[in-house]
Amino acid sequence: MTWKGVINAYRAYLPFSAETPIITLNEGNTPLIRADRLAEAIAPKAGLKLYLKYEGLNPTGSFKDRGMTAAITQAVAEGAKTVICASTGNTAASAAAYSARAGLRCLVLVPEGKIALGKLAASLAYGAEVISIDGSFDDGLDMVREIVQRQPIALVNSINPWRLEGQKTGSFEICDQLNGRAPDWHCLPVGNAGNITAYWMGYQQYGKGLPRILGGQAAGSAPIVTGKVVEHPETIATAIRIGNPARWQQALAALDESDGMITAVTDDDILASWHKLAKLEGIFVEPASATGVAALQQQIALGEIDPVGKTAVCILTGHGLKDPGTAVSQAQTPITLPANVNALEDYLAQ
Ligand code: F0G
Repeated sequence: MTWKGVINAYRAYLPFSAETPIITLNEGNTPLIRADRLAEAIAPKAGLKLYLKYEGLNPTGSFKDRGMTAAITQAVAEGAKTVICASTGNTAASAAAYSARAGLRCLVLVPEGKIALGKLAASLAYGAEVISIDGSFDDGLDMVREIVQRQPIALVNSINPWRLEGQKTGSFEICDQLNGRAPDWHCLPVGNAGNITAYWMGYQQYGKGLPRILGGQAAGSAPIVTGKVVEHPETIATAIRIGNPARWQQALAALDESDGMITAVTDDDILASWHKLAKLEGIFVEPASATGVAALQQQIALGEIDPVGKTAVCILTGHGLKDPGTAVSQAQTPITLPANVNALEDYLAQ
């Protein structure tokens, strides 16, 4: 059967009526990839069954499309003409794409100089009005929360409950792909905490078992780990550069109810996992997306997670091409050779 997006696939679990016209880019149905080489690297000889949910293969290159199809479908159903969000970049690109498809005006607020190039390029290409603010994501979120009180504009950040409705379909897919059961561990990066909230909702609703949730935050932006708002969050993983998550309480509930845990990983840990994903498994993600893997490796190394015989799923939230700047700055310089085969043979002999 042709895949027609997450709302069509899981309509029975979503609060849309059969008549609601769906705005979709056929998002979802992303691969769950077994990663034995990475498993061996982070948990040698433990028989860890590690799977990677490659959300970077969604239409705009991140998991945000799952929630955005729902939020924009609902905004259109309610007669909205304009939508707005604050974003570290991926929500912006997704909102821009689905708004274009629905014929809506779309405004996105992004922290100046802290949004990866691929996200900016896409948001502009889709025709969104991109507004750079001299503040953080958190400042932008305060602004958009306020403006929708004053103006007839629909807010499509994950404080919008429809976003979570769409994003919870990720849990359904994982259970389906694991032959009808949830994994033992579900590992993911945590920024504004919408995704951790949505996944937990999804597992609870689907009734195929419950994983323990492991959240990872970047050490310079780890408010939930430290229990304190971070006024000036910093991390190379700009997607999760957030100091005061909107879904903080729900994240704590998900962690508590799942007997889970949340931990901080350094930028070096994140980049090490980012390299491993690319070099051991051929999967190129943006840095934030490696945070779940880094958290899992850390907790196994500390003895807090016993990997023996366990099944773990790491959510790879965004594609590597989102952030070409970081990729290039982390890579070796390409080799330069004259354009002749002898030079190539000499190089091979070195
Ligand atoms: N990974 C990526 C690639 C993200 O873009 C985000 C969030 C997260 C993880 C964290 O998810 O916020 O639900 O906890 N990006 C938002 C944005 C904030 O504006 O694109 P979360």
